[in-house]
Amino acid sequence: MMDKITVSAPGKLMLLGEHAVVYGYPCIVSAVDNYLSVKGEVIDSAYDQYNIGETNDDFIETAVDTVRKKYHIDNKVILTTTSELTGYGLGSSAAVTVATIKLLDEFFDIGLRGEDLFNLSYKCIRKHQPLASGYDIASAIYGGTIYFDGRTKKVKRLSDQSLKLIIGFSGIKADTVDMVRKVSDLNEKNPDITKNIFISISTLVKNAEAAIINKDWKLLGKLMNQNQELLVKLGVSSPKLDEMVKSAVTAGAYGAKISGAGGGDCIIALIEKSQKEKIEKAIINTGGEILHLDVGNPMGVCLS
Ligand code: MEV
Repeated sequence: MMDKITVSAPGKLMLLGEHAVVYGYPCIVSAVDNYLSVKGEVIDSAYDQYNIGETNDDFIETAVDTVRKKYHIDNKVILTTTSELTGYGLGSSAAVTVATIKLLDEFFDIGLRGEDLFNLSYKCIRKHQPLASGYDIASAIYGGTIYFDGRTKKVKRLSDQSLKLIIGFSGIKADTVDMVRKVSDLNEKNPDITKNIFISISTLVKNAEAAIINKDWKLLGKLMNQNQELLVKLGVSSPKLDEMVKSAVTAGAYGAKISGAGGGDCIIALIEKSQKEKIEKAIINTGGEILHLDVGNPMGVCLS
C-alpha cells in the first residue's frame, strides 16, 4: 500500500442542456483547468480525520462510508483537501466525491473502472441531491468536452481543445437544489409546457454536438442564445444574469447563456478572440467578475 497519495479532479461548466438533463435529456459539459485535490494517508487510529477547509465535509464522509461498506475496508485515513472550485458553481461536490473515491481505489487496490467510479460517485451524490443528473461527475472523471446522456448516463467525447468562452461570475452563489426543485414544481403543475421546453433543449443540444465537432462557432453561439431563451421560460434566469448575458451578446459574443442551475453562479459567452476585451468589459460593467479558466481542459481525475 502506498504511503500518501494526492488525487485531483477538475471543475466543470455546463455548456448546454441544464435542467433538461435531470429529466433524461442530453447535455454538453466541459471540464476546466481549476481543480479540487484530495491528499490521503492511511493512519493507525480508530477514526478518520478530515482536514477539509471550505470543502463540503458531508460529501467526503459519504464517499468514504460508501466505499468502506461496499469493499469492507477497515483502515482509517486522513484526508486533506485543497480547492480552486469553491463558491463559483464549478462542481466542487462532484469533484470532491470523484477524487475521494479514486483515492481510496488507489490506496486499497479496488480496481474501479471509469464506469464503476461513475456509478459509485453518482450513488453518493444522490444521497444529498436525489434529483442530480450526474453530468458533473462524468465531467470530473473524463475531462474534455463531453456529450452526456441524462437517461443512459453514457458519455461521448466531443473535444479536447479549449473553447473560446468568457466566464462571468454573477457574485451570487446559486442554490442548485432549490433551482432544481423550482423546475420540478413547474413540471408537476404544467408538464406539457416543460416537456416542450425539454424537447426543444434536447434538439439544440444535438445540433450543438455537431457544431462543436465541426468547430462551427457561429452556430454554437446561436444555439446557446436559444438555450438561454428556453431557460428564461423555465424561470431559472434572473435580472442580473439576463443583463450579463445581454451585455455579452450586444458587445459581439456569438452567444451567451447561464451555465448550470441558474439563479446565480456564472454566465458563459462564446467569442471570437479579437472581441475578448470588449466583451469582458461589457460583462464587468454589469457587475460581473471574469473568471480566467481554460474551458475544455482534457484532464479528468488523476493522481498528482
Ligand atoms: C446544475 O449544475 C445542473 C442541473 O441540470 C442539475 C443536474 O444536472 O444535476 C440543473
